[in-house]
Amino acid sequence: MYLKNAWYVAGWERDLDDGLLARTICEEPIVLFRCENGKVGALEDRCCHRSAPLSFGRLKNNEVECGYHGLRFDKTGQCTAIPTQNLVPPGARVRSYPALIKNRWIWVWMGDVNKADKEQIPNYFFLDSPEWATIEDYFYIECNYQAYIDIQLDQSHSPFVHPDTLGNPAKLKVKPKVTREERALRCERLFPDDIPPPLWAEAAKIEGKGDSWNRWIYNPPATIMFDVGAAQSGTGAFEGNFDHSIRIHNAHAITPETATTTHHFWSSARDFGIGDPQTEKEVSIIRKVFREDVAICEAQQRTINKFPGAPQIDVAMDHPTIQARNLLEKLIKEETQNL
Ligand code: FES
Ligand SMILES: [Fe+2]
Repeated sequence: MYLKNAWYVAGWERDLDDGLLARTICEEPIVLFRCENGKVGALEDRCCHRSAPLSFGRLKNNEVECGYHGLRFDKTGQCTAIPTQNLVPPGARVRSYPALIKNRWIWVWMGDVNKADKEQIPNYFFLDSPEWATIEDYFYIECNYQAYIDIQLDQSHSPFVHPDTLGNPAKLKVKPKVTREERALRCERLFPDDIPPPLWAEAAKIEGKGDSWNRWIYNPPATIMFDVGAAQSGTGAFEGNFDHSIRIHNAHAITPETATTTHHFWSSARDFGIGDPQTEKEVSIIRKVFREDVAICEAQQRTINKFPGAPQIDVAMDHPTIQARNLLEKLIKEETQNL
């Protein structure tokens, strides 16, 4: 069960540079392309003639030409030409999805076209701001997307999954402050005068203790923004003075492909060492850190597959992830009831 009246990230803008992009989202195969005016087309990836995948075809003059018998479709999904006849029969069309680019990500609306609301797309300004340098990637992950959202929202895994980089022990003792909104969940953990995560302590050149923080906003169904950082103790970072701190904004788009496969588009943006190759090299370790999340989640999925339906227990540290799941479940339920 997926939230359909929602925006999902289908890829990086650059993924459209080579023509047609095939991507399955919420179990629906879609073909994406960019028109000359910069607008994005997103069509059901199935020709209405004999069901060849349209992504097998080619992009021609802002239209998709099927790679089997050459039927052509415009951005609205309307068939505009059939090579062997002059008339296009009524009903010769495929489904189209609202799609656009914001902050270098391709966003696709998977539900009722009339309800597509651009205001619901979070503002990840740091993805295309010159004041932030980014390390970014795409991971294809063989696990359920909610389990993968769990690991991003659950900071208590850090000392065990990332002991040498993000795993400061304070994450196990400071309780998260969780705030629920209509379509968002916020979480804050402040670690005053304590050991910061090793990776950020090194980047901020903090020896011993410092002030560090970890905040996130989850926008259901599938995007998260992190605001993390570290500063010399008592230099005012918690009050908004960042003169003695380093800040990192991470964006995660965790798009379900199927029940057990997930697209992860991510970016780790920093406000320090911009243009400095040495800093770039040091913080690139974040790619390895995120790969550690992938490894544990894929192993978890394999075990779940071996023990279908096996019960799991909840513990206190699950509070933020349970809240996130409850919020998404509520939105799905409301959507289903309003059908
Ligand atoms: S299957 Fe697409 S044109 Fe025939
Ligand atoms: Fe992690």
